[in-house]
Amino acid sequence: MQKPVIVVHGGAWNIPDDLVDPHIEGVRNAVKIGWDVLVNGGSALDAVEAAVKTMEDDPTFDAGKGSFLNEEGFVELDAIIMDGSTLDVGAVAAVRNIKNPIVLARKVMELTEHVLLVGEGANKFAKKIGIKMVDPRELVLEREVERWKAFKKGKLNVKDIFEPASKGTVGAVAVDINGNFAAATSTGGVAGKMVGRVGDTPLVGCGTYVDNNYGAVSSTGHGEKIMKIVLAKEVINLIAQGCNAQEAAEKAIELVWNRLRGRAGVIVLDKNGNIGVSYNTPRMAYAYIKDGKIFSGI
Ligand code: GLY
Repeated sequence: MQKPVIVVHGGAWNIPDDLVDPHIEGVRNAVKIGWDVLVNGGSALDAVEAAVKTMEDDPTFDAGKGSFLNEEGFVELDAIIMDGSTLDVGAVAAVRNIKNPIVLARKVMELTEHVLLVGEGANKFAKKIGIKMVDPRELVLEREVERWKAFKKGKLNVKDIFEPASKGTVGAVAVDINGNFAAATSTGGVAGKMVGRVGDTPLVGCGTYVDNNYGAVSSTGHGEKIMKIVLAKEVINLIAQGCNAQEAAEKAIELVWNRLRGRAGVIVLDKNGNIGVSYNTPRMAYAYIKDGKIFSGI
């Protein structure tokens, strides 16, 4: 029997001092929920879905409710979930009235022949399978309306968001008692993004990758840079070349910076159950449980 392990992140960015405690509390809460699934014999897929859903429901993070607003003042959400035993994957992008896009992404994986559904098509599918639609305004927080107004007035620009970095995408990677790995990531993307902009998160190999033969990865940070590096798959390739989780995480983040001056972070679990955490932003909220012991960092 494999020892279960779960790692979560709540985004790599310049987390201000007054938001440190809610971030730590949020990732610890999420990792415990995922861990409960694993120790009760649940699958890695169930664990990462539960952990990410918990963070989507926590307005601290840039996922689900409380996400950044796009240029028209709406939340548009992206999410992905992947199964390391089969390489099955499901993702949604630019959905506006789904409270938990990670739940919908899993349904795309399990109930369709496709990998990624976007916008209206994703909403139609959600409706067909009975996932409740919410009024998009329910996902908008006053805090984000104020940020959006600053963006519109030109008081906040993309450089402010990415240098040092973007706000908290969420993600989770896990291995269950059967030795199966899974990974999931969810985000509201970047503040003031163009309508229809999709970042790295829901793209296989960019925001997430997992393969039982190597390990599992979830990324966070500047999506446009992460996509160009295909960051999550880069980490997996490094593991395939012999790196452990921490070495692979560090090398991949170095590559994002050296090649593109990009800001990003990753959480990694390799096939031996080793954990890797690396980021080149001032802070990244993360937590893990291994051997029944919880650890969190920021
Ligand atoms: N990494 C999240 C995004 O850029 O959309």
